[in-house]
Amino acid sequence: MPVRAPADATVPSPDPKRSLTVTDQRTQREYILAIEDGAVRATGLRQIRTSPDDFGLLSYDPAFQNTASCRSAITFIDGDAGILRYRGYPIEEIAGRRTYLEVSYLLIHGDFPTRTELDDWLHHITHHTMVHENVKKFMDGFHHDAHPMGMMVSTLAALSTFYPEAKQIQDSVLRERQIHRLVAKIPTIAAFAYRHSIGMAYIYPSNDLGYAANFLSMMYRPSWTTGYDPSPVLAKALDTLFVLHADHEQNCSTSAMRTVGSSYADPYVCASAAAAALYGPLHGGANEQVVRMLQEIGSKENVPKLIRQVKAGKRRLMGFGHRVYKSYDPRARIVQKVAESVFSEMGRNPLIDIALELEKVALSDDYFIKRHLYPNVDFYSGITYQAMGFPTDMFPVLFAIPRMSGWLAQWQEMILDEEQKIARPRQLYVGPPERHDTAKPASRPV
Ligand code: ACO
Repeated sequence: MPVRAPADATVPSPDPKRSLTVTDQRTQREYILAIEDGAVRATGLRQIRTSPDDFGLLSYDPAFQNTASCRSAITFIDGDAGILRYRGYPIEEIAGRRTYLEVSYLLIHGDFPTRTELDDWLHHITHHTMVHENVKKFMDGFHHDAHPMGMMVSTLAALSTFYPEAKQIQDSVLRERQIHRLVAKIPTIAAFAYRHSIGMAYIYPSNDLGYAANFLSMMYRPSWTTGYDPSPVLAKALDTLFVLHADHEQNCSTSAMRTVGSSYADPYVCASAAAAALYGPLHGGANEQVVRMLQEIGSKENVPKLIRQVKAGKRRLMGFGHRVYKSYDPRARIVQKVAESVFSEMGRNPLIDIALELEKVALSDDYFIKRHLYPNVDFYSGITYQAMGFPTDMFPVLFAIPRMSGWLAQWQEMILDEEQKIARPRQLYVGPPERHDTAKPASRPV
């Protein structure tokens, strides 16, 4: 018969109807853990010990598959139902109706801006798009074929050296100023990285263009003319893609932003760390990999061969599967519509037919059905970017531009959350026990 452990005087007794009773079979003791918002506190397990000098029980969760690291009021995802909401608003209601900068404001400030707030926000974002001339020189130092994402990761970190005031992260006015700078400058850095990689002169931002149109202008305007009108269809499509990528709760890059930020590092180096996490092929690099995979498949007839390779565990179907979505990613449906609008302007990207065939075959195959593998946002975004004329190397950069809003919203929420401390996971040590170095060291110059 288990013996109830004495209550921990530092923890309020849980409501019995909202609690979990745990019996430690090693000691036959019973513990009551409070359930709050569908979770038990991992630190509550520490009281479960076999002796007074036992450290207490840890929870083991490699890759954070079942661990909530924060309370957040920014983005809600129901992965089984395929639901994504920003600050409570369903993504389907916002995408295409609200501009990216309105959504950026919503994520960072909690509500859509009033007319006056929007004017003020647009003014600040527009007037911070320029980068210091030394940033340009810094970027000039990269090798001619440097990957634009590598350039972006480094340049974001370099911005830290230009704005030492950013270290004062507890000052709300200075925090807001760095937010303006980062949202405003990331398209400029992205476009400069692209121009550098093709050996063309940088194009400065134009204050009379909207956020997406200005980015297109910095990317594509010939340097010998000031007359360049970005296509409104492409600007609108890009702006909608920005909205779809603006936040996605505690993903790998956002967790990096929060983790680095928890040491009170300034937001530029935090954003650089987040962008580095986004660079990986399992995260923001996936859209690039999707296009490479579709190019390799080459035609619809080769789809079954690729599916066989995936099922044999030889490779992954890029753009499929998600840690959270176990049904269709709602963003993927919207990207399909955006792709059609881009094709109407630029012509159809032939890779779309291979992608559609791949989706059809995969979604009727037991391997994918059993594992709940559906297209994610990256499955169609790369094809769309390609149809818009963006080179493959730029795809993760195009993801990073709008995700900056999510990173900053999450970073600020973390800074203001009194429950947060420096992020510092525990480990289960599985190395050798204490041993002693008794061998005679080889004599070498030091
Ligand atoms: N192709 C083939 N099999 C897959 C794929 C895939 N894309 N994704 C998962 N699986 C299989 C795994 O092999 C595993 O099978 P098993 O149970 O027989 O071993 C099972 O599905 C579960 O996979 P996990 O790797 O445990 O799933 P996890 O949640 O860790 O991974 C991830 C999620 C990384 C996104 C994965 O699905 C993947 O690698 N997808 C391809 C890359 C991609 O598209 N990334 C973009 C994600 S969205 C974003 O970052 C915006």
